[in-house]
Amino acid sequence: MHLVKKITVLGSGIMGHGIAQVCAMAGYNVTLRDIESSLLDKALEKVKWSLSKLVEKQKITQIEADRIFHRITPEVDLELSLRDTDLLIEAVPEDLGLKKKVYTDVDKFAEEKTLYASNTSTLPITEMAALTGRPERFIGLHFFNPPQLMRLVEIIPGRGTNQHTINTALDFVMRVGKEPVLCRKDVAGFIVNRIFIPLVHEAAYCLERDGVSMTQIDSAVKYKMGFPMGIFELADYTGLDVIFKATSEMYSRDTRIVHPHPKIKELVDAQNLGQKTGKGFYEYSGNTYERVNLTPEEAAKYNPISLVAVSANNAAWLISNNVCTKEDVDKALRLGMGLKKDLFGTVEIFGVGNVVEKLREMASKYGSRYDPDVYLQSYKSK
Ligand SMILES: NC(=O)c1ccc[n+]([C@@H]2O[C@H](COP(=O)([O-])OP(=O)(O)OC[C@H]3O[C@@H](n4cnc5c(N)ncnc54)[C@H](O)[C@@H]3O)[C@@H](O)[C@H]2O)c1
Repeated sequence: MHLVKKITVLGSGIMGHGIAQVCAMAGYNVTLRDIESSLLDKALEKVKWSLSKLVEKQKITQIEADRIFHRITPEVDLELSLRDTDLLIEAVPEDLGLKKKVYTDVDKFAEEKTLYASNTSTLPITEMAALTGRPERFIGLHFFNPPQLMRLVEIIPGRGTNQHTINTALDFVMRVGKEPVLCRKDVAGFIVNRIFIPLVHEAAYCLERDGVSMTQIDSAVKYKMGFPMGIFELADYTGLDVIFKATSEMYSRDTRIVHPHPKIKELVDAQNLGQKTGKGFYEYSGNTYERVNLTPEEAAKYNPISLVAVSANNAAWLISNNVCTKEDVDKALRLGMGLKKDLFGTVEIFGVGNVVEKLREMASKYGSRYDPDVYLQSYKSK
């Protein structure tokens, strides 16, 4: 296995600075690269703040915090940032054109030993890898936001990624204290987003079709499906711009994966991006930790079987297409979305037959995209 000693993180934004911190906390030397030093200053301030919180909570000592902080070297010069690097983690904005340019530049300077990893949420790994001189040593490493807290990392090999790179990625993710889930094929949305993004749109369709309120749907999602919060609430919390972008990327790769509801675009066009702008599906007063009031009483007024069915059907597609196992789906949803119940456990509570029947009914009313997957049709309850 390739022993990773030095890491370069490209992009010091929301994800990049957090990934750099996670790596430094695991003992790696990290070079954090961005296009302007002022951006790197801001990123390092955020790392310092996050470490100070860990000191305050007595998770680490001040001496450890200082050591971790000094393992991160800011750098604007791309060539210098890549010197002696074993693993490059790219976290520049989610724009295929920009990423392609970045990889073309990186390829000019990276040393032979450097493995490339992209933190993309939705872009095709194989396509980015093809632009480099080392597609066999290119992989997706999808950390979740915030990387300091979220334990899941999806590992996505491209079509040409070799086993050595996959093994190195798995080993690295465990060394930084995270839980890897291998997404064996480079499919749009990987595992978590493949289930989460279509579900947001489906919830918007339910709102329209089922004559119920947003809080009734959200309460049912929370209390009957084991979500940490409602689905509209989760969309607001994630950011509707992030959801819109992921939707567009996934839809552009395959129109059958997600059926965009116009409401999401409308909200984004009006700059109502969710909690961060004070308005999305819901309105917020500005408190970062504000939660929508969801109750078991409201949950009792709505049967979320369409939402169970759509999420289970997307999970089933992943399993029957050998992208991952049922256990991987459960682990990814638990660690990446905070689900408290296994998805197929919920399917069993609703009844597999009822879920399949619901999908058939939806397929006949709204189109074949709801056709039940073979895995779900042959699923046997425990
Ligand atoms: N934000 C999330 O919730 C989230 C979650 C998981 C994965 N991702 C993925 O992580 C990646 C980064 O997203 P983000 O939210 O951190 O973006 P961001 O916009 O917060 O940060 C991107 C940073 O990259 C910098 N940058 C631009 N061009 C660069 C270059 N050539 N070299 C180095 N740095 C450059 C920008 O100046 C910016 O600081 C995207 O692919 C995104 O899809 C984001």
